[in-house]
Amino acid sequence: MGQPTIGHLDPAFVGMMDEMKQLLQYAFQTKNQLTIPVSAPGSAGMETCFVNLVEPDEKVIICQNGVFGGRMRENVVRLGAIPHMIEIPWGEAIDPNVLEDALKNCPDAKVVAFVHAETSTGVQADVKTLVDIAHRYDCLTIVDTVTSLGGIPLKVDEWEIDATYSGTQKCLSCTPGLSPISFSPRAVARIKQRTHKVQSWFLDLNLVMDYWGGNTKRAYHHTAPINALYGLHEALLILKEEGLEKAWERHAFHHRALKAGLEAMGLNFLVAPAHRLPQLNTIYVPQRVNEAQVRQILLNDYQLEIGAGLGSLAGKVWRIGLMGYACQLKNVIYCVNALEAVLESMNAPIHKGAAMNAINAVVNEKPH
Ligand SMILES: Cc1ncc(COP(=O)(O)O)c(C=O)c1O
Repeated sequence: MGQPTIGHLDPAFVGMMDEMKQLLQYAFQTKNQLTIPVSAPGSAGMETCFVNLVEPDEKVIICQNGVFGGRMRENVVRLGAIPHMIEIPWGEAIDPNVLEDALKNCPDAKVVAFVHAETSTGVQADVKTLVDIAHRYDCLTIVDTVTSLGGIPLKVDEWEIDATYSGTQKCLSCTPGLSPISFSPRAVARIKQRTHKVQSWFLDLNLVMDYWGGNTKRAYHHTAPINALYGLHEALLILKEEGLEKAWERHAFHHRALKAGLEAMGLNFLVAPAHRLPQLNTIYVPQRVNEAQVRQILLNDYQLEIGAGLGSLAGKVWRIGLMGYACQLKNVIYCVNALEAVLESMNAPIHKGAAMNAINAVVNEKPH
């Protein structure tokens, strides 16, 4: 990112844009031509999907089981469209039957939207099943993959996702500020059939593609964040060098080690095992513990930041991220030991001295 800033139409930069598209296609496991980074953070990727695929007065079904489903609703309302919310308790997964019932009750819905990896709760969605149901009712799908890309299996083509947006700062371990997106040919066709102009000039993909799309001539749309894009290019190369499957395995393995250590200490997970995200571990705060004080001590004395609970989970849980470069054994060990030391100093009801053996047992299962 410290390399010289060259022009956004410089042939060397244009060459890097082409490579970037291929690297993103690999990360998303797609051949979608419209696979590019939006020049703004994950929230702008979300907005890109909604403003391009939804028109005023259209009905959109949103499955909400955390913070980000609520943001989707805001996008739909601000477009003059009609959100139909499926409210799921935070910490639980989206029930496919509930989506099917909602589609039966709302036969003219045009789009179904949900989050693959809910960062606010640590819940994973069964994307393929939900997309299949949406397609049976002629809906396009918008899937938030901000926290899943590079961390857990995500197969845009195989699962037939129509539009997805991600972020750079989660399992890609890049700096924040860009949002990789991918649109299927079916989604592109929907954009072409629109009767209203896309309400956002900046996010209108018809215009953005004049810059990112063309194999032949490229036209100025906005000044691309050149140095941020160098960073994403490098992050994607690192992912490719490791291999996507290896990165998924690494996240799963370190989650098992972290889980073993935390559970040996007597801490409990919020999310049922079948729906847990390896890269976002949500655990209940033990009774009589001041959760904010624990986070403050971890940050000030151990330079370790863990997340607080959000919304209805505020004060009740902690969220421990194991994403991208941070997802390493030394960090698992450091985190578990630091948490144990802080909880012990507060006389919290935990089992002392059991965590490291439990972590080692997981590590020893792994062939060296
Ligand atoms: C699941 C999910 N969606 C959307 C966003 C928004 O991304 P950004 O903060 O990069 O705008 C986040 C950010 O944490 C997220 O976790």
